[in-house]
Formats: sequence, C-alpha cells, structure tokens
Amino acid sequence: MKVLVATEKPFAAVAVEGIRQVVETAGYELKLLEKYTDKADLLAVVSDVDGLIIRSDKVDAEVLDAAKNLKVVVRAGAGYDNIDLAAATSHGVVAENTPGQNSNAVAELVFGMTIMAARNMYAGTSGFELKGKHIGIQAFGQVGRNVARIAKGFGMEVRALDPFCPDSAMADAGVTPVHNVEELYADNLFVSIHIPATKDTIGSIGYDLITRMPKGGVLINTARKEVIDETGLAKALEDRTDLKYVADVKPGNAEELEQRFAGRVFFTPKKMGAQTAEANINAGIAAANQVVAFLRDGVDRFRVN
Ligand code: 3PG
Repeated sequence: MKVLVATEKPFAAVAVEGIRQVVETAGYELKLLEKYTDKADLLAVVSDVDGLIIRSDKVDAEVLDAAKNLKVVVRAGAGYDNIDLAAATSHGVVAENTPGQNSNAVAELVFGMTIMAARNMYAGTSGFELKGKHIGIQAFGQVGRNVARIAKGFGMEVRALDPFCPDSAMADAGVTPVHNVEELYADNLFVSIHIPATKDTIGSIGYDLITRMPKGGVLINTARKEVIDETGLAKALEDRTDLKYVADVKPGNAEELEQRFAGRVFFTPKKMGAQTAEANINAGIAAANQVVAFLRDGVDRFRVN
C-alpha cells in the first residue's frame, strides 16, 4: 500500500518524519509531493496511491479520476471545503478531516492579529488594550473555544454565536451565548470569524453586518475568505473610517483594500494560522494514523462524506 502526502504548503520537516514513521511502521510506503505549483504534478503522482494526506490542496473529480487506487483522503486540518465530497463518494473514496488538531495555532494567530489592529498596525500611534473589551466569536467550534480561552486570559468579555452548540457548553466555558448574528456584530468591539465555507455561509458577512460594529470595531477572519462579501466589505470600510479588517485568508480584492484603506487592513501573504510545528505534528500525525486505521482496519471515525 502507498500513502501520498501532497502539500502545496509543506508541513514542518519534523511532522513529515512523524508521518513517515506511522506509515512505515504499518508496512506501507510513503510518497511525498511538496511545494508543487502545477496540478499535473499531483495528477501524475496520485495515480498509484491507496491513501492521500492533504492540507488545503484541492481534491476534485479530476484528481479522483487520476487516483485509480485511492481509498481514503484525509485533510490534515479542520476545513474540508477543498475536497469535492460528492465526487469522492461517487469514486468510492472516504474523506476525513482531523478536527481540533490545529485549532490552538489558529486561535493564537487571532490574537497576533487582534493586538496588531488594536495597536494601529504597530505604526507607533496610541492604540488600545484588550482588557475589559468585548469579543464576539462567530461559531463556537474547536478554534472558537480556544479563542475564548485565550481571550479570558486577556481579561476580555467573551460572547459567542453558534446555533449548533448548546448555551450550557458556552456557559461552562464562561462565555455568554448570543442568539442572532446582528447582535454579535453590534455588541462587540472585536468579532472573530470561525465559520466554515458552505453554501449557507459563503458571502454571508457583508455591508449590513460589518457596519453594525461599534465605533473602532475590528473584524478578524482566520476562517475562509469566501464567507465575506468582498464588495460589501470594501463599502463598509469606505463608509466607516473607524473600522479595521485583519485576515489570515487574503481577500480576492486584497490589493484594492490595501491601497484604499492603508493602516486599517492587514492580510498574511499566505494562510499561516495552522503553520506551526505543533499544529503540523498534531494534524499530520493524526492524518497518518487515520489513513492507516482506515486502510488496515476500515476505521472511519472522522469521515465527512
Ligand atoms: C484548516 O482548515 O485546518 C485551516 O484552514 C488550516 O489550513 P492549512 O492546513 O492549509 O494551513
């Protein structure tokens, strides 16, 4: 059996070594395709593998057609919007993710960017502190819960919106539940987005919500660029000169926003929320264990299709 790690944005070397150990201990062969720039490279190398480990790499019908022996694909991470789930199912391929394994890394970056915005992008002008401020967390999943934990360490008041999470789970974490999205945006100086990109959420955060934010509001997006209505965002930043937007998921109109709203927007050059040695090791090795568990024993606990 062969297992391919295909990562356009590679894992730390130590994580790759951990993956290798898991795969080889199971008696399987590890293939590695890193930093590829051409989809043709993936199509060529995927042709004879039984298991596939990816990050944000796209696995669509063309990749699945090329992967004649593929039985399982594991997204080493949380979001699996990069996998065509219907195509995976019709190709008889099990798709999985590794929930929670990289969530602390993403949550820590939320605060890297939150402080940057609160201190005026480190321009040297007088900013403000996080202590005592309100933060609204949009979706109380694994990343959202870590954001809440860290926010409390800063002495922030934490609110969260998540229709899939019982109020009691938020209350147990010392977080105040919010039941509508308008309220979340209107009542919190900081709003941190942690929703997946789905047909219901794509383009769902636009002018109306963003302009509800209080004066000086900061919107932080470490989730997916697709959940933002980018035209609405640009108009909100134009009409509300007090607002800031910081994102680990560069918008399609990043250049325009950087030019028009210099000092009020910041985008990481490449999504790096999960780019820590710890997150790479946790998610990469979890993915390797899941691939082996499926190929050897048919275990599919984290199946998403
Ligand atoms: C995730 O969904 O797990 C994060 O967005 C991390 O993505 P990455 O593995 O491409 O860094």
